[in-house]
Amino acid sequence: MLQVNQLNKTYQTGNNIYPVLKNLSFEIHKGEFVAVMGPSGSGKTTLLNCISRFIPHDSGSILLNGRDISNLNEEQLSRLRNQQLGFVFQDFMLLDGLTVFENICLPQVIAKKPIAQMEATVKKLCSLFGIQKIMEKYPAEISGGERQRTAVARALMNHPYIILADEPTGNLDSKSCKAVINAFLQAKKQMGATVFMVTHDSYAASFCDRVIVLKDGAIHQELTRTSARRQFMDELLDVLRELGGEDDDNE
Ligand SMILES: Nc1ncnc2c1ncn2[C@@H]1O[C@H](COP(=O)(O)OP(=O)(O)O)[C@@H](O)[C@H]1O
Ligand SMILES: [Mg+2]
Repeated sequence: MLQVNQLNKTYQTGNNIYPVLKNLSFEIHKGEFVAVMGPSGSGKTTLLNCISRFIPHDSGSILLNGRDISNLNEEQLSRLRNQQLGFVFQDFMLLDGLTVFENICLPQVIAKKPIAQMEATVKKLCSLFGIQKIMEKYPAEISGGERQRTAVARALMNHPYIILADEPTGNLDSKSCKAVINAFLQAKKQMGATVFMVTHDSYAASFCDRVIVLKDGAIHQELTRTSARRQFMDELLDVLRELGGEDDDNE
């Protein structure tokens, strides 16, 4: 589904060049729920931004469903972001002037799909994520967890190859965090969705199939969940403690 091969990225400030991603290679399979963890500054957001092509990388390749997305033109990039990638951000990024229903419709409005077809899909997603009762409300009238579930529904609207989420539970209390993780798990189970999530919350990551741990822009360790969730969470906490990075919600 997603293949990242020997990805390198540097940032330049003045005369200094900082390597931020160093020869990263990994693969995400269809239907997998994968987290990226690592201390603050280890390159997690940069990695997501390279995959979504918001920033260019220096070398290496990124393949989405077998296609190299490194050299797309602007028009191809817009189509990629609208139809093949789904985004969930830490601060929801919903439009305040639109209802939950309308926010979820947005990707299909952009893709110029017929309204009737949208309505059925939105209703299905809302009932899947337990937000059908708030479809006519505005973002200011609903809780953080509901906002983020709305954002997950919106990300799924065009059946993207993969959902990219940057700290989707970062602004949420633990109950809302669980509701959002459940939305990802439902999307995976019911729709075969593939989810790639940056988080520094071991609780959120413990629900994933696999966790890639970054340290200084390189893969420090990859952990596959083979045991019960609680045990997996302990394993994650051990690795993060060893790294000296934060392992809680406060960055
Ligand atoms: N636009 C930029 N210009 C220069 N340095 C940057 C820029 N964005 C991020 N960095 C640096 O790159 C490193 C990785 O940042 P980031 O990917 O945001 O890490 P993370 O998301 O893991 O906290 C940090 O040291 C950060 O200061
Ligand atoms: Mg970040």
